[in-house]
Amino acid sequence: MNGKGKIWMDGKFVEWNNAKIHILTHAMHYGTAVFEGIRCYDTKNGPAIFRLEDHVRRLANSCKMYHMTLQFSEKDLADAIVETIRINNVKHCYIRPICYYGYGKMGVNPLPNKVSASIALWDWEDHIKTEENKGMRVIVSSWARIDSRSLPMHAKATANYANSALARIEAISSGVDEAIMLNISGMVVEGTAENIFIVRDNTLITPPLTSGALDGITRSTVLSIAEHMGINFQICDISRDELYYADEVFLTGTAAEIKSIGEIDKIVIANGEVGKIATQLKSIYHQIVHGDIEKFDKWLTYVN
Ligand SMILES: Cc1ncc(COP(=O)(O)O)c(C=O)c1O
Repeated sequence: MNGKGKIWMDGKFVEWNNAKIHILTHAMHYGTAVFEGIRCYDTKNGPAIFRLEDHVRRLANSCKMYHMTLQFSEKDLADAIVETIRINNVKHCYIRPICYYGYGKMGVNPLPNKVSASIALWDWEDHIKTEENKGMRVIVSSWARIDSRSLPMHAKATANYANSALARIEAISSGVDEAIMLNISGMVVEGTAENIFIVRDNTLITPPLTSGALDGITRSTVLSIAEHMGINFQICDISRDELYYADEVFLTGTAAEIKSIGEIDKIVIANGEVGKIATQLKSIYHQIVHGDIEKFDKWLTYVN
C-alpha cells in the first residue's frame, strides 16, 4: 500500500503503478466524480470494515444525484471493497471508492461518457497531526460553503472539494491546521472534510443537514454513542460566535475520526486541549471500530 498493492478498476485488479486513466477523462475536467472514504480496522476477528453498507448506500445516492448509471450494484461494490482488502492482505486501511464519468466525449454534458468505478486502499494515519492531548488550531474560512442551490451537497462529489481545498489552503497559509466553513447565511456548517460538534453545558450540538453539512457517517456514529452513553444532544444551527465560547469543539469524519479543536481564530477553546466529552466519545469510538462493544458489532463487516 501507499505506492504498492492492487487497485480495483471496473472489476479488474491492476497494479498500483498501472492504475491510470486518460487525461481527457470527463471527471478530471468538469468535476463529475463521486467518492467515499471508508476505514477498515484491525479487530480480534481480523480486519473489519466500519459501516460498509452505509458508505456504499451514500455512494449509490451520490451517483444517483449525478445521473450516473453504474454497471455495479451496491452489493457488487461492497463485495469488491472486501475483495480489495483481501487481495492486498492488509489489517487496516483507508478505502477510497470513486465513480466517475470517463473518457469519451469532451464538453460539459457528462452523459455520453461511460461511468467507471475504482477502489484503492492506503494507510492514512496522518489526517491532521497535533501534539498528544492538544486540540487543532483552526480559522473560520472566508470562503462560504457552497450550498444545494449550486450543487447537491449530500452527494460526496469531487466538485464540492474545490471549495474545501480553497478553505484548507487558506487555513494552512494562515499557519493553522484546518478551517471551519460557514454557509451563505453565516451559520456553521462543517470543516473542510469533517462534520462539527460543539459541547455546551454537557450537551452536544451539531448543525442540521439542512445547513449544507454532509450526512456524515461518523456524525451519526457519535450521535448513537451519545445516546448509548446518556449524553444529551441537539441538532440545531450554530452561529459563528457560539463556537468561541463553547466548552468543547470537535470535528468528526472517517479519516479524522474525532478531532478536538483547541483554538479558533486565536481564541482558546477547552484550554487548547482535548475536552472531557471528546475524550469519552473517542474512547467508545475506538472500542466500537475495533469490535469491542457487541451492541455495535452490526456496523462491522469482517473481511475474512
Ligand atoms: C465535507 C465533509 N463533511 C463531513 C465528512 C464526514 O463524513 P464521514 O463521517 O461520513 O466520513 C466528510 C468526510 O467524508 C466530508 O468530506
